[in-house]
Amino acid sequence: APKRPPAKKTITTTLASLQSTHKLILFYGSQTGTAEDLASRTANEVYAKFGVEAVVADFEDYDMSDLITFSQNLDDGEEAGKVVIGFYLATYGEGEPTDNAADFYEWFMDGHGKGEDDDIEDIDDEIASEKQGTGINYIVFGLGNKTYEHYNSMGRRIARRLDSIGAKRVGAIGEGDDDGSMEDDFLAWKPKIIEALGTFYGVKDLGGKASRGLAHVPLFNVSIESSITDKAVFHGELSADHKPRRFQNGPGGEDKRQFVEISTKKRILYDAKNPLFSKIKTSYQLFGESSDEIKVSGTTITAGTPEHYAYAADGSVLKIQRQCVHVEFDISNTGIRYETGDHVGIYGSNSVAHVEELAKLLGLDDSGLDEIVKLKANTANRLSTMAKMPFPNPCSVRTALTHYLTINAPIKQHHLELIAKFASDETEKTAIYKLVDDRNLYVERVETPQKNLAEILRDFPSVKLPLDVLLGEILGPIVVRYYSISSSSKKEPQTVSITAVAVRYALPQKQLLHPDAPAHISFKEGLVTSYVCRLTEGKSGFVAPEIDASESYPSVPFNTHVPIFIRTSSFRLPRDASAPIIMIGPGTGVAPFRAFIQERVHVAASGLSKKPVGSTWLFYGCRHPDQDHLYKNELAQLLATAAAFDDEKKFDLRVHNAFSRVPGQPRQYVQNIVEAIGGEVYELLDKRRGYLYLCGDAKNMAADVNALLLKLAQTCGGKTEDEAKRWVKTLKTSGKFQEDVW
Ligand code: 2AM
Repeated sequence: APKRPPAKKTITTTLASLQSTHKLILFYGSQTGTAEDLASRTANEVYAKFGVEAVVADFEDYDMSDLITFSQNLDDGEEAGKVVIGFYLATYGEGEPTDNAADFYEWFMDGHGKGEDDDIEDIDDEIASEKQGTGINYIVFGLGNKTYEHYNSMGRRIARRLDSIGAKRVGAIGEGDDDGSMEDDFLAWKPKIIEALGTFYGVKDLGGKASRGLAHVPLFNVSIESSITDKAVFHGELSADHKPRRFQNGPGGEDKRQFVEISTKKRILYDAKNPLFSKIKTSYQLFGESSDEIKVSGTTITAGTPEHYAYAADGSVLKIQRQCVHVEFDISNTGIRYETGDHVGIYGSNSVAHVEELAKLLGLDDSGLDEIVKLKANTANRLSTMAKMPFPNPCSVRTALTHYLTINAPIKQHHLELIAKFASDETEKTAIYKLVDDRNLYVERVETPQKNLAEILRDFPSVKLPLDVLLGEILGPIVVRYYSISSSSKKEPQTVSITAVAVRYALPQKQLLHPDAPAHISFKEGLVTSYVCRLTEGKSGFVAPEIDASESYPSVPFNTHVPIFIRTSSFRLPRDASAPIIMIGPGTGVAPFRAFIQERVHVAASGLSKKPVGSTWLFYGCRHPDQDHLYKNELAQLLATAAAFDDEKKFDLRVHNAFSRVPGQPRQYVQNIVEAIGGEVYELLDKRRGYLYLCGDAKNMAADVNALLLKLAQTCGGKTEDEAKRWVKTLKTSGKFQEDVW
């Protein structure tokens, strides 16, 4: 029988389960886990400082309609004053809520507030009648990115809506900018909000550092399950709903999971919690390069410069390696459908090399890694009853470290506080606390060189981390990464392809205790793309990386399955194929446009459109036509196909290229070649009611292209600056100008 979805929790029942007089519930709208992380850090601190029990909650797990009623359900009016509800809200894409907050947002805004940010005030009158004098006391932290137009609109809109129904705000609204430093913004806000909460509750600070002398009470207890059957064990499935099973324990290698075909007549719905384990159909390198430049925390560092030597005390050379790959996932016979312009979510796994390196430093041998563990909330920790299981278990330690937990991210400052407790050597303990107490030192020594847990353990050998802390608290979950799909659903309904850059680089690590000792070189890599590359290495002409000691990245059976699912986007070709389109996508920004062009050539060739296909112009940019020109041959082939169409099928397909690093030639960017034919571009958008699509780097490229559009509207369209702004805005709101930028 179909399983009923689990009953939703309510604020009322959660409050009833908390024992302290004052209570805090922090809801998070999180896509990649940052909002959740910041919420739980606030919760921990509030508990440590004030003894106020604080829980972190996923909108999705709650019946949020209780938000309006819970205060009325409380025993007396007094009670409400002791409860604060927090909203940690990430703003996604074009001012949208994260997936887990979407239902709440829709319901809470009651259909309002979807338009311009400023319009919300106008609806205040409308909803004034709804003011129920609710006893909601709230705090808000918004997570956004200033390079997007709708900066932090979720946090702002929800706060305004709360105000309008008579809720009372505690402290100032916090906002973090991912384009700058989310962490710094949060750290600047946190002490203020903690203080405001203390004042609001009227409680005394019990003193944070007092806990340093105390033994740690873990959130979870970890037990070794020696008699468990393989059937009950998780091997990397993401849903706690264990059936239908998709894995059994395989023979080893990169991925011990072995795919088990399950036959079912029911249609399976694949989503983030139940991804399809898809076969890689094919994968090939579009270009690969290695250079002496490296990007660290957004800054480019070139070998031989002072910044470089700051990292490489021993003068060793930093190498960066970029590989751009085209990867096709097989979705045939799965019932999965996608539309051109959609995104695909992919879960990566950590490499054998990295897992084993960490295991060695943890003192775990092979049998230790293969031990099956089970996590159980530790009732001795008062926060544990509300803590979410960090990953599906029972599973082996190896599975947890390979498929569920992030082991390569830089260790967070507040986690060092926890790690320090487990250092038996006093010098090491003091050195770790120094990093905890000095933000600048932490950024310089840990965050910038991206020191992960293994490197911390290497520097502080007296640290012996117990499994409960390791698995239950220090390592965050592996989160899904999204890619623009680069195949056309009309042309290739059985295939989802991505165009992605895998970066690997060597980063010298200074010893934290002995900064003058020779640096240890550590290899860093992106999670998903490197995972996909490892899976396909040695196949399809994939080039072995130069910086790689080949044992670091062993190749694996080609038929390994990658967890994927489709995320619907609003990035769409015009329904009417005769509408003209302009696509601007330098670098991997070309991904969705490969799909667009593929689709339009297919539509023309197969006569799917009654009217002739409209003008289709791509503006593409890369460094050099012989180096990083993505899909060079394929696009030439598509152009040739289109050129050979007979008259009734022929359409205006053009590809304009900008090359930025051809020796002896001026540096050209996409916006330069758009501007060169600015008159035609403007006319196509304005008079011929064309569509404009922009994909790629949000920070510089997209901003430059947006600025150019304003300029074209003035120079070619004779508009004033204000009119030009309005013109661009109208293009955007009417769906005639769509962006997929990151
Ligand atoms: P560069 O690497 O020579 O700076 C794809 O990455 C292409 O986009 C490269 O040719 C890159 O040039 C170029 N690019 C870099 N910054 C850009 C910007 N602000 N606008 C447009 N293109 C840019």
